[in-house]
Amino acid sequence: MNFGLLKSFTPRSLFGRAALILLVPILTIQIVVSYVFIQRLYARVTEQMTLSIVPSLSLVLADVAAAESRTEIEGPVRELARGLGINVIFEEAAGIVDRRAAFDLSGRVVVRVLEEALPEIAAIDLASNDRRVRLRVETAFGPILVGFPRDRVSASNPHQLLVLMVVVAAFVTLISFLFLKNQVRPIRRLAEAASAFGKGQGFDYRPSGATEVRQAGAAFLEMRSRIERHIEQRTLLLSGVSHDLRTPLTRMKLSLSMMPEDPERRALEQDVEEMQRMLDTFLDFAAVEASEGAEPVDPLRLAQKLVARGQTEGLAIALGELEGEGQIEARPMAVERAVQNLINNAKRHGKTVRLSVAIGEKSVRFSVEDDGPGIPAHRREEAMKPFARLDPARNQDRGGGVGLGLSIVRDIARQHGGSLRLGESEALGGLRADLVLAR
Ligand SMILES: Nc1ncnc2c1ncn2[C@@H]1O[C@H](COP(=O)(O)OP(=O)(O)O)[C@@H](O)[C@H]1O
Ligand SMILES: [Mg+2]
Repeated sequence: MNFGLLKSFTPRSLFGRAALILLVPILTIQIVVSYVFIQRLYARVTEQMTLSIVPSLSLVLADVAAAESRTEIEGPVRELARGLGINVIFEEAAGIVDRRAAFDLSGRVVVRVLEEALPEIAAIDLASNDRRVRLRVETAFGPILVGFPRDRVSASNPHQLLVLMVVVAAFVTLISFLFLKNQVRPIRRLAEAASAFGKGQGFDYRPSGATEVRQAGAAFLEMRSRIERHIEQRTLLLSGVSHDLRTPLTRMKLSLSMMPEDPERRALEQDVEEMQRMLDTFLDFAAVEASEGAEPVDPLRLAQKLVARGQTEGLAIALGELEGEGQIEARPMAVERAVQNLINNAKRHGKTVRLSVAIGEKSVRFSVEDDGPGIPAHRREEAMKPFARLDPARNQDRGGGVGLGLSIVRDIARQHGGSLRLGESEALGGLRADLVLAR
């Protein structure tokens, strides 16, 4: 059996599936009940009712057959028939032919039973008057019409039950849909909360709904606060250590400056300098980390601001392609720092820098390109690791960093449900760094 095909027809959403699970049994029951009802019960009842009028009819027909004159039929026979609820007339009789409406299901049973029980009936007309059964019987004096009310042979208004069933089922289904919608909403809220957390966006979530959903919600909240505590602790530790190391470093710097000038002192001073830079980077990072919540950020405005800042500092930086528009939910200072880090790297390794922005449906991409030497493909992953400096000698004279720049950018990207990708700039020939953030 091909389940793949079946799968492609079943709804994907929980709501759709639940609705299907709900609808299929109801529809099946309806169809089965309707079928059994019409086929069996209704047909049986009609048959019995028709059979019960047969003795009266055959009595009347026997009298008609035995009559010696037309007057006798129009006199005593008609009187007898009237007593039995049957009328007998000569008028109109000639026009009676076998007729039955297309959807008159019980009519079929009536016709069958009457034809079997009373072969002397020449024609049965159920359609020209739907309240009456009209029979044509041939006599020596011409055809006569034998008629009686239709409701003596079929249960009245059987469709009412079916209509009622359909209406009630539709009503119940509607109510179930409403309840179902309420059951699905908490699950959707939980999914939204989880996805917002993954993108580093704020989301006010409180567990609600059925027990299982509440449980999942509570577990999510617990996990979220554990991760948040963890990040907070890490940041606190980093900034604490960095902060406390500052004082001894300053003291060392001071002592060094008192020492006699020689190559050894130069080397020590450089080390102290570097440690200081490292601490500053840490502290900067930690400060942004600690202080900020997500808020709407306009990526285009941010790019313009950073380019303008670079230009006032004398950097050959330009805006590249700008695609799409709109805002993202992000931590403004963190994003700014990340892009600034990429620009700083480009500035250090190249002469010309270009910043492009592409705002898509689900994500935003900041691309920083330069005309420097770039990073060979096999070393790109390494370059993003903390304290990774690929070519310390090359950077030294240009005030190189401590190897934390790219790893901080990647950290910020991940906090926003995104990533950092390194590649080669087609336009400029140097490095192309793509900072992607989820929207
Ligand atoms: N735009 C770039 N062009 C070439 N190499 C780069 C570029 N950006 C970063 N790198 C390389 O990746 C390494 C890591 O970068 P980063 O994490 O910013 O550290 P840092 O700038 O502190 O050295 C750098 O040491 C450098 O060798
Ligand atoms: Mg750097």
